[in-house]
Amino acid sequence: MYMSYELSAEDALFNRIVIIGLGLIGASIALAAKKRKLCYEVIGLNRKSSSLMSAKKTGVIDRAIENLSEISLNLNENDLILICVPTLEFESVLKECRRLLRDCVTITDVCSVKGYTVDTARAVFGFEPFQYVPGHPIAGSEKSGLVAAAPELFANHLVILTPTLRTGEKNLERVKRLWEGFGAFVCYMDTSRHDEILASTSHLPHMLAYSLVATLASRADYQDIFRFAAGGFKDFTRIAASDPIMWRDIALTNRRAIVNALDHSLTDLHVLRNAIESCDSNTLMEVFTRAQGARKYLSGINPHMFKNRSNSDDAKDSEEIKYVIKPGGHCRAELRIPGDKSISHRSLMFGALAEGLTSVTGFLEGEDTLATLQAFRDMGVVVEGPSEGRLLIHGVGLNGLRKPTKPLYLGNSGTSMRLLSGLLVGQDFDVEMVGDISLSRRPMNRIAIPLKRMGAIIETLDGGLPPVKIRGGRKLNSIEYQMPIASAQVKSSILFASLYVNGESSISEPAPTRDHTERMLKGFGCDVRTGNSEIIIRGGTHFMGKCVEIPSDISSAAFFMVAAAITPGSSVLLKNIGVNPTRVGVVNILRMMGADIEFSHTYNQGEEPVADIQVKYSPLVGIDIPKGQVALAIDEFPVIFVAAACASGATRLSGATELRVKESDRIKAMSDGLTLLGIEVIPAADGLTVIGGVIGGGEVDSLGDHRIAMAFSIAALRATSEICILNCNNVATSFPTFVQLARQVGLDVVVESQ
Ligand code: S3P
Repeated sequence: MYMSYELSAEDALFNRIVIIGLGLIGASIALAAKKRKLCYEVIGLNRKSSSLMSAKKTGVIDRAIENLSEISLNLNENDLILICVPTLEFESVLKECRRLLRDCVTITDVCSVKGYTVDTARAVFGFEPFQYVPGHPIAGSEKSGLVAAAPELFANHLVILTPTLRTGEKNLERVKRLWEGFGAFVCYMDTSRHDEILASTSHLPHMLAYSLVATLASRADYQDIFRFAAGGFKDFTRIAASDPIMWRDIALTNRRAIVNALDHSLTDLHVLRNAIESCDSNTLMEVFTRAQGARKYLSGINPHMFKNRSNSDDAKDSEEIKYVIKPGGHCRAELRIPGDKSISHRSLMFGALAEGLTSVTGFLEGEDTLATLQAFRDMGVVVEGPSEGRLLIHGVGLNGLRKPTKPLYLGNSGTSMRLLSGLLVGQDFDVEMVGDISLSRRPMNRIAIPLKRMGAIIETLDGGLPPVKIRGGRKLNSIEYQMPIASAQVKSSILFASLYVNGESSISEPAPTRDHTERMLKGFGCDVRTGNSEIIIRGGTHFMGKCVEIPSDISSAAFFMVAAAITPGSSVLLKNIGVNPTRVGVVNILRMMGADIEFSHTYNQGEEPVADIQVKYSPLVGIDIPKGQVALAIDEFPVIFVAAACASGATRLSGATELRVKESDRIKAMSDGLTLLGIEVIPAADGLTVIGGVIGGGEVDSLGDHRIAMAFSIAALRATSEICILNCNNVATSFPTFVQLARQVGLDVVVESQ
C-alpha cells in the first residue's frame, strides 16, 4: 500500500506526479521533477508497455502503473496529473480522469492546441473544470520518445498557460510553480491567441518542412538530391523528422488557424514566385531585407522577456537590467564612440525619400535608430544592413512610401515619432505611430500644432500624447512658424512637411538648436536657406541619393569627457567626434568649469565638422550655466550635473524646462539620485542647482532613461562606495557599447538582470 505524505511548506511541491504518456515531453518532465526534487514520487502510465517498463527500469519514473484506477483512490490535492499524450488521445485520457479522480486532484497537460483541450474538458465534464490547468511548454525537439528525454529540456524555455475564468487559482499557482521549478518561464495567454500565434510560429513551419521534404522525397532521384543537401536544407527541414502522429493531431485540432496561416504564407510565396519569374529585384530585396532584419531581432529575444507577461505588446516587459558599479577607477584610454543618433535617424529619412541609393557609414545601431529603420522597412523601403555601421538605402522618392500594414512601433524614440510625423503628413495614406511607456508620455502637440496649421489631420490622445494618427492624402500649405520652444525636433518635423508644400515656408527659432536637418537638406540638394535664426525652405524638389558619413556622437562622448574631467590622473582621447557648433554646449560648459579639453584633427566630414577630443583631469569649479548654452547641451545635462557634483561650489542651471519632458523628467531623476548619493541639490521648475561635494554610494533609479543611467555610472568614478543603478535597459537605445567602453576606461561595472 502506497504511503501518503502530508506536505509542509519546505517540502516538495507535489506529493505524487502522475505522468500519462511517456514520450519525449512526459519523460523529460519525469526526469526534471526527480532531478529538481519537486515531488516525492513520479508515477508513469503509458499505452505502450515496453516504454513503460523501460522507463521504470532506467529510473525515469519511480513507479509504473498500467491503469489509473490502480492509484486513483489515493490521489488528493497534493498530487498532480500531467497529460502528455498526442492531442487526439487527450479526450479519452481526460474521460478516465473524470471517472476515476476526485475533484481536488489538479490536472494539467502539454498539448500544443489549447482551444481543443479547453473545449474537450468542457465537453467531458459538462462544465469548465476548475482543476484543469491548460498548459503548453514551448520546448521540444524533433527527436521523440523516451531515449531523447532530458531533465533540462524546459530550463530557460517558455511555458504558456491558458487558464479560463473557471480555472482554480491554487491549481494554477501550483502548476506555474512546477514549471518554474524546472527552470522555465511561465506566461499566461488567452486560448485563441495561443492557437493563432502557435499556428504561425510553430505549426506553419512544421507543415512547410513536412511538405518540402515530402515533395522532394517523391521525386525519383530523391536519394541523389538528398546526398547534395546542404546546411540550409538540413536546418530548414530539421523539424520534419518530428513525430507524425503528434503533428497529424495538431493539424486536425488547430485546423482553422493553421489554414489561415498557410493561406497567408501561400499568398506571400506567390509574390516571391512572381518576383523571381519577372526578375523583380526590388521586391526580392524588400522581402529579403525585411526578413533578415526581423530574423536578427528574433535572435535578440529570450524567454525572460515574457516573464510575468500577460498579453501586452509593450517592449518594457523585458527583464530589468541594473548596473552595479564599484567606486573609483582610473581613466586613461582612446575610445571609438558609436555614430551620432540624430544624424543616423536623419540619414534614414533622407535616404528613403531620395531617389536611388544612399550609402551610409557610421550608422548608430541603437534601438532608437533601429526603430526608425524598421518603420521605413514597414513602409516598403529596402535597406541593406546595418552591418558594422554601414547601410545601403534604396530610396523610393518623396512619394514612394507605402502604407504600412500595422502601426509603426517607435519604441523609446521621440526623435523618430516627431520627425516622422512631419514626413508622414505628406503621404497619401493613413498611418499610426505608437511607442513604449516613456514615449507614450511625451508631448506631441509641439509638432501637431504647426503641422495642423499646414493642413495636416493629426490625432493624439488627450494632452497631445501618443499614439499619433495621421490622415493621408492632405494638401499641405506653406507656413511661417515662430517656434515657441527651442526644439530641433519640431524644426525638423516642419522642415520635412515643407518638402511636400508647393511654395516657401519659413521657420524661426527662439535659440539655435542642432541643425543637422538643414545641413542634410543642403547636402541632398534641396532648396533651403538659413540665417538670422530663420530657415526658408521651398518644397517639391526631388533629390538623389548620396553618401552620408556619420561622425561619432558627441552626446555619447560627453559621458567619457566628464569621466576624464572628474577623475584625477585621467586622460581620454575620443576619436572623430561630431563637433557641430549647435552640439558643443557640453564642451563650452565644461571648459567654463575649468576642464582641460582640446580639439585636434578638425575637418569637415561631408556636411558636419568633426574632431578628435582630448580631455585631461583638472579641478572643476561651479558656474552659472549661460542660458545660451542650454539648447546646445540639452542632452548632456545629466552628466554635466555629475561634473557639477565633483566641482567646488555651486553650479546653477535655469531656463531648461525642456529637461522635464525628455525620456524622463531629468531634473527630478538627477535631483533625486544625487540627493540619495549625498550631494546637495536645489531643484527648480526650470533647472537645478548642484553644490559640489562628496559622492557617496547607494541605489539610484534611472527611471528607464538611458542618459540618467549612464550619468550615474560615471559618478561611480568619484564615489566613496558602490553605486547600483536600476532600470538600465534603455542604455541600448543610444549607446549599445556603453558598458564595454566604461570597462575600457577602468569602471568596474557588473550588469545584473532582475
Ligand atoms: C534631437 C533633438 C533634441 C534632443 C534629442 C534629439 C534631434 O530634442 O534632445 O535627443 O535629433 O533632433 P528637442 O529638439 O526636442 O530639444
